[in-house]
Amino acid sequence: MRTRLRILYGGRSAEHEVSCVSALNVIRTVDRERYELRIVGITTSGAWCDTTAAALDAAASDAEALPSPDVLWEANRSVPLSSSSKRSVLDFTLEEQGTNFMTEWQAEATASPKQTESPEAPTVVLPLLHGPMGEDGTVQGLLELAGVAYCGPGVAGSAAAMDKGLAKALLKAAGLPQARYVYLREEQTGDTTPGEVEATLGWPVFVKPANMGSSIGISKVMSGDALQSALTLAFRYDSAVVIEEAISGRELEIGVLGWPELRTSVPGEVRPTGEFYDYNDKYVSGTAGLDVPADVGGDVCAEMSRLAIEACGALRVDCMARVDFLYETDGRGLLINEVNCIPGFTPISMFPRVWAASGVPYAVLVDELVEMALRRRDRRARFETGR
Ligand SMILES: Nc1ncnc2c1ncn2[C@@H]1O[C@H](COP(=O)(O)OP(=O)(O)O)[C@@H](O)[C@H]1O
Ligand SMILES: [Mg+2]
Repeated sequence: MRTRLRILYGGRSAEHEVSCVSALNVIRTVDRERYELRIVGITTSGAWCDTTAAALDAAASDAEALPSPDVLWEANRSVPLSSSSKRSVLDFTLEEQGTNFMTEWQAEATASPKQTESPEAPTVVLPLLHGPMGEDGTVQGLLELAGVAYCGPGVAGSAAAMDKGLAKALLKAAGLPQARYVYLREEQTGDTTPGEVEATLGWPVFVKPANMGSSIGISKVMSGDALQSALTLAFRYDSAVVIEEAISGRELEIGVLGWPELRTSVPGEVRPTGEFYDYNDKYVSGTAGLDVPADVGGDVCAEMSRLAIEACGALRVDCMARVDFLYETDGRGLLINEVNCIPGFTPISMFPRVWAASGVPYAVLVDELVEMALRRRDRRARFETGR
């Protein structure tokens, strides 16, 4: 019996295009004998639409990315899940209007064997959405409410990992190593002078919006003169920012997989071409060097593995993650930079590469994610509610 695999791609964040590449790769890789695919695109304005036909056409061609749901929407090559492009599928779930994806998935997920023609066929959603409104617990919450199994971390872990301020506080509480930082809400900016930042962290510092990704809104600030403009930029993306001491060293990453027990891959190393690993380096020029496995000793590998699993535990991240480190070679050693809940799945992405190098090829990775999603959903269904 084929599993009904529903892939969500596109999305409202700045990483929309990356998601289009990730989704194409997953579609090309998964075994169609095992999975019945349905592809749902989310436009940059938040409309959900069925893009299965166009996505499968693209996968059969030599395209390098799925067409953006925006383009398919414009060209009438998608089937809207709602009658107005301004509304999301959430409205429809709440209104319980006839058939829409949510109610359909929900029915499939909760149907008793008598009600469905293919009782064994489970439904699993694979959200291949990066950044806010996809990787941050929002979509996960929607799926949780609908009772549908989904791949990747749950609501709390996704939200905690996405918010850099929250994540740092939790890592600190768990006693895990990280760069020194200051967390600042918009209403507190008047309280922070360049002199204070210099006294607390020294120069240079990194200024980052708390909730973003893909290096968007991030600046490396070399001196007090540039602090204000960096804060202004970061506050364009979120109402909270993190100011962090700049670490000079290497950037190492490791894959995490499993439920309920986590395990790690071999580490990889990113070698940015510029001042830091910025958006251009990640997605535009693609010129950053990626070494898999990273050229580090066994002791560093073991320490990365231990810290990555502890970081996921502290943030309540389960099933899948890529944990990124800054490695201060002449100092404190491994410092946790961030935990990513839905890492890239493009051909050049670190996550599938570190797993391939650890004996888990792309297709098996998806099988594992699906299988974990179903086990987690079944476990959760058995919890007592206290009612
Ligand atoms: N404290 C730091 N010291 C040195 N480099 C940093 C620091 N923080 C971020 N960077 C650089 O900026 C990049 C993006 O920052 P990161 O916190 O990973 O944000 P994002 O969530 O956008 O990926 C990192 O990959 C790294 O190159
Ligand atoms: Mg990063």
